[in-house]
Amino acid sequence: MAKVLIIYHSQSGNTERLARSVAQGVMNTEDARAVFKRAFDTKTHDIKDCDAMVICSPEYFGYMAGAVKELFDRTYEELKDDAVMYKKPYCVVISAGNDGSGALTHIERICKGYRFKKVQHPIICKGQVTEEALAQCFELGRTIAEGVNAGIF
Ligand SMILES: Cc1cc2nc3c(=O)[nH]c(=O)nc-3n(C[C@H](O)[C@H](O)[C@H](O)COP(=O)(O)O)c2cc1C
Repeated sequence: MAKVLIIYHSQSGNTERLARSVAQGVMNTEDARAVFKRAFDTKTHDIKDCDAMVICSPEYFGYMAGAVKELFDRTYEELKDDAVMYKKPYCVVISAGNDGSGALTHIERICKGYRFKKVQHPIICKGQVTEEALAQCFELGRTIAEGVNAGIF
């Protein structure tokens, strides 16, 4: 059974809505389970135990949310040399006012350091969260879960 960890931070709820839609996509897939966690509540064992991760962050000041950075700061030393982390599938969802590229670039750079493997194109939702963006996130969740179950990542 695919276990997909959805990590998020959100102040005004936009990123949380996108993240919940990813989780619904995972749960809509046969033999798949979504683990839905705020970045501040995510522990090293959550990352070790999952089959794939979707990292969902707002862009604040051209960067990822501080909470997401704090997660990386807190877990990197313990996880960076762990064999189970090598090529762990991940992808990114960003909620931004009008840009999102800074948050995305920095998350992907850090994920390279962990040696995670990017398995889907990122989603950047700019401005209001639309039904279209929610549908994209739902599909992303399904695709990740199905990919894990099919062993293609
Ligand atoms: C402190 C702060 C800084 C922000 N900086 C940026 C930014 O640099 N680029 C951008 O496109 N949007 C920026 N925004 C807009 C947020 O990315 C956007 O409102 C996002 O949807 C917030 O997500 P949330 O509701 O999950 O917190 C900023 C918002 C806040 C509150």
